Amino acid sequence: MKCHVLTLFPEMMEQALKASILGKAQDKQLINLNFINIRDFSNNKYLKVDDYPYGGGAGMLMQAEPVYNAFKSINTEGSIKPRVVYLTPQGRTFNQHIAQEFAKEEELVLLCGHYEGIDERVLELIVTDYISIGDYVLTGGELAAMVVIDAISRLVPGVLHNDDSAEFESFTDGLLEYPHYTRPVEFMGKTVPDILLSGHHANIDKWRREKSIERTVERRPDLIEKADLSEKERKELNYDTIEF
Ligand code: ADE
Repeated sequence: MKCHVLTLFPEMMEQALKASILGKAQDKQLINLNFINIRDFSNNKYLKVDDYPYGGGAGMLMQAEPVYNAFKSINTEGSIKPRVVYLTPQGRTFNQHIAQEFAKEEELVLLCGHYEGIDERVLELIVTDYISIGDYVLTGGELAAMVVIDAISRLVPGVLHNDDSAEFESFTDGLLEYPHYTRPVEFMGKTVPDILLSGHHANIDKWRREKSIERTVERRPDLIEKADLSEKERKELNYDTIEF
């Protein structure tokens, strides 16, 4: 997976993304991050890339030309036209389903805005997807782009040690994950559920499934309707007590 990132703050992103699992994934060339500094494409000697909005109003806007030229400088491998994702609170809300969709792409371009946003004309010319990471406003798209990069990288085969862990986790079947325990068996008077020590794998799977459903009902009842439940599991749900 190759990801080109158009940003005014490449150092901040590079630094954060080279730690831990994503750092190792880059070392192993499982993911390849290419940061392009939009300021390098400024058309004036002060390296300015922003200006006042026509029509007045608060704040500054990123100009179309440096963003366009930064985009045009990207060398995509072969003849594919990658999706160009603009991080903005005005986009579709990012979720695991979109992460899976993006993880299938060979190449992706992420565009990070700053100030009050970017001149609409360049967005119309290059953007294919508008993505938000939630209903709140950040100072720029960089943190949002890092969230997207993290979520999709861990779905790239080989990035996580255990391929199962990306598959059997929260959201994959529309449910939250069951609770986890590790050593010691007792901590502050709380013990690990006996069933997990039993070695009986079928019973453990059954217990985990029940806990997943229970937890989703409790913490994210809004997910239950679309979750991948069997007919029997649905019948056993007590819809009267679920707070949708
Ligand atoms: N840029 C500013 N706020 C954002 C958000 N919530 N999601 C994505 N990009 C953003």
